Amino acid sequence: MKVLIATEKPFAQAAVDGIRKETEAAGYELALLEKYTEKEQLLAAVADADALIIRSDKIDGEVLDAAKNLKIVVRAGAGYDNVDLDAATAHNVVVMNTPGQNSNAVAELVFGLLVFAIRNFFNGKAGSELLGKKLGILAFGNVGRNVARIAKGFGMECYAYDAYCPSEAIEAAGVHAVTSQAELFRNCDVVSLHIPATPETRKSINREMVSMMKKNAILVNTARKEVINEEELIELMNERLDLKYVTDIMPDADCKFKEFDGRYFSTPKKMGAQTAEANINAGIAAAQQIVGFLRDGITKYQVNK
Ligand code: 3PG
Repeated sequence: MKVLIATEKPFAQAAVDGIRKETEAAGYELALLEKYTEKEQLLAAVADADALIIRSDKIDGEVLDAAKNLKIVVRAGAGYDNVDLDAATAHNVVVMNTPGQNSNAVAELVFGLLVFAIRNFFNGKAGSELLGKKLGILAFGNVGRNVARIAKGFGMECYAYDAYCPSEAIEAAGVHAVTSQAELFRNCDVVSLHIPATPETRKSINREMVSMMKKNAILVNTARKEVINEEELIELMNERLDLKYVTDIMPDADCKFKEFDGRYFSTPKKMGAQTAEANINAGIAAAQQIVGFLRDGITKYQVNK
């Protein structure tokens, strides 16, 4: 059996070493395609792979056509919007993610971005503090929960809305559950996005939502760029000079957002899960899930059932 790690944005070396240990212990061969720039390189590399470990790498019908031996793809991470699930199912390929494995790393970056933003991007002028501010957490999954845990250390008041998580579960974590997304935007000084990119959430963070935020509000996005209605947010930021947007996923309209000097920041490359710890956790989990599936038929984290 051949396992291929195909990561345009490479794992830390320790994660690759850990994956190698897991796969070789199972008697599998490990191949590595890192920092590839052309789809052709991916198409060539998958040709004889039985299993694939990816990150945000795009797996579509063409890749699946080229991967004649492929049985399983594991997205080492949470969001699997980069994998065409229907095409995978049609090719008889199991798709899994590794939920929770990189969520602390993403949550910590939320606060890196927030401190940077609330201190005016370190421009020397007096900023503000997170203590006592109301933080709205949109979606209370693994990242949202970690964000709440860290926010309490900053002395923030935490609120959350999650269409799929019962309010009792949110309250049990010491977070105020609100009954709608609108209420979250209306009540909070900061809103942190942790929703996946789905047909439902696409462009859902729009003018109507963000315009409800309080004066000097900060919107922080470590989720996906697709959830933002970029045109409408630009429109609103042109009108509301108090509003800041900080993101770990560069918007398509980055050039236009950059005109909001002192109110906008994007990491050049998505860095939320880019820590040695997150890479090791997610990478090794991916390798173990591959061995568990190929050897014992375990499909616990399958997302295309
Ligand atoms: C995820 O969905 O797990 C995060 O967005 C991290 O993505 P990455 O592996 O591309 O850094």
